[in-house]
Amino acid sequence: KIQSLKSAYEDDFLIGTALGTEHILERNEKANRLIKREFNAITPENIMKSQIIHPTPNHYNFDLSDKYVEYGLKNGMYIVGHTLIWHSQLPAFAGKIKNADSLRIFMTEHINTVAGRYAGKINSWDVVNEALNEDGTLRKSVFLNNLGEDYIKNAFDLAAKADPHAALYYNDYNIEQPAKRKGAIELIRKLQAGGTKIDGVGIQGHWSIHKLNLQEIETSIIEFSQLGIKVAFTELDLSVLPNPWDLQGADVNQRFAESPAMNPYKDSLPDSIQTVLANRYTDLFKLFLKHRDKISRVTFWGVDDSHSWLNGFPIRNRTNYPLLFDRALEPKKAYQAVINLK
Ligand code: XIL
Repeated sequence: KIQSLKSAYEDDFLIGTALGTEHILERNEKANRLIKREFNAITPENIMKSQIIHPTPNHYNFDLSDKYVEYGLKNGMYIVGHTLIWHSQLPAFAGKIKNADSLRIFMTEHINTVAGRYAGKINSWDVVNEALNEDGTLRKSVFLNNLGEDYIKNAFDLAAKADPHAALYYNDYNIEQPAKRKGAIELIRKLQAGGTKIDGVGIQGHWSIHKLNLQEIETSIIEFSQLGIKVAFTELDLSVLPNPWDLQGADVNQRFAESPAMNPYKDSLPDSIQTVLANRYTDLFKLFLKHRDKISRVTFWGVDDSHSWLNGFPIRNRTNYPLLFDRALEPKKAYQAVINLK
């Protein structure tokens, strides 16, 4: 009898979860028992982002990240580092840099210090996060503006040097969509052509039960793996709430408002929607299994619905139900559906 997600999929790919501070500090016994029982890979939801780990030029906060890495080592888990270079959740001092030399110094020191500290312990790094626009061009950021597109190559080369054993990933959302995917493929090809080490691509997978394009996801798995790299689903969750950008007609303020219409399942999720969620997860995991030789890992963005970032994004104060465990840390119908595929 199958006992857990990780044992169900042990011959296929890793099953991960994102950890918050309360998990790393083992503040909730039930949650920590669940994490150890169900998952064999972990990602830090926030605590390794540059703003938190490197808030001012010469100061690093390694307290929580050390504990995070210890937690993974102690429990024999695959440990992901997230993330080295990202335009968001960046320390204020770095965001203000106005010249190439200073930014190069920031990048070099940051990557050497953070990746170097955990060399040999972190299994894979999201080296660069979200560098692309929806149309596949490179996103304007303090990095692109000061260093040009070479900043991506520089970041990967620095990471490879600081931790030669970690698998190095490019991570982004919507890169299963054609235009952005094309941009990602071009970015990865350029790195490879320049002799830079890149081991995989992370498709974040912040999707929705109302809109899940399996066809594009499949094409992406195939096309990315044809580059000779692994594909990971790094931040999987399926929102059950309306996404403002999918709504036609209504004006923008209306769509982003904290209104009952945008938060329809405040008290509980109807059974019919539980079933839709289970079916969408079933479709996804069937596809993942079909391409198990190309997929290294599937990580959920959070442990249970109570901690999901989708309760606060893109509209604040909603009640979302995107994960496999409910607010009481009990498995949902979607959990059983994913297990039943095996
Ligand atoms: C999110 C966290 O879940 C939130 O707690 C935080 O407030 C903002 O960032 N893409 C990423 C993740 O790569 O790091 C983001 O995580 C979600 C989108």
